[in-house]
Amino acid sequence: MTSEKSIAAEKFDLKATKICKSYGGTEAVKDFNLTILSGEVFGLIGDNGTGKSTIMRVIALIDRMDSGEILINGVDACENAKHYRTKIGYIPQANALIEEMTAIDNLKLFSLLDNKATAEKIDELSKAFDMDRFLHKKVKHLSGGMARRVNIAAGLINSPSFIVADEPFTGLDATQRTKVIGYLENLAKEGVGQLISSHYAQNLESWSKSIITI
Ligand SMILES: Nc1ncnc2c1ncn2[C@@H]1O[C@H](COP(=O)(O)OP(=O)(O)OP(=O)(O)O)[C@@H](O)[C@H]1O
Ligand SMILES: [Mg+2]
Repeated sequence: MTSEKSIAAEKFDLKATKICKSYGGTEAVKDFNLTILSGEVFGLIGDNGTGKSTIMRVIALIDRMDSGEILINGVDACENAKHYRTKIGYIPQANALIEEMTAIDNLKLFSLLDNKATAEKIDELSKAFDMDRFLHKKVKHLSGGMARRVNIAAGLINSPSFIVADEPFTGLDATQRTKVIGYLENLAKEGVGQLISSHYAQNLESWSKSIITI
């Protein structure tokens, strides 16, 4: 027996078929298909305006698609969006933090866990992303890279079964990028599937199963 916890993530197999989404006359995403099984990491690469964030918001069940289908473990995700949204860790491209609040209060705000579990999770993420020294500072007083790490932590606070991370590495220095990648790699080993967008394939190619270029 080892004292280390062996955490297996809940099975979360995602299959998106023929996703279409337009904004007015702008066709942002057309017939996009994707299958990510538990523990698989897919990179989404593309130039500005190619539809990466749109795909991510649709797959994270934040925005509705115009047509298409998303199945999670064979179940229609959109019909059960309320349930599945709590299983998905969404890290938005633009930080979704309240600037006037401290980093730790933001993390508490995002948490669905009970107090003790929240405190443990914040402690774990704080150590993983070197956040200890600024946890009690207001977000508006943090540097870009510090706020970015709080934003990433906010998406991971509920121990998601699947992660949708939109440009998570933007604004991180090389050391912090390596730490975040290491943390996400470990989650993948525990079975957490991930869709991660980036402008640069080199952030993803060493550890993802596949890179999709749109
Ligand atoms: N809320 C919105 N309202 C109107 N148009 C939108 C909206 N969101 C995205 N679009 C349009 O949809 C297209 C795809 O945008 P999207 O943000 O998905 O691209 P992206 O690949 O994430 O770009 P970037 O690399 O700059 O983040 C663009 O033409 C954009 O103008
Ligand atoms: Mg984007």
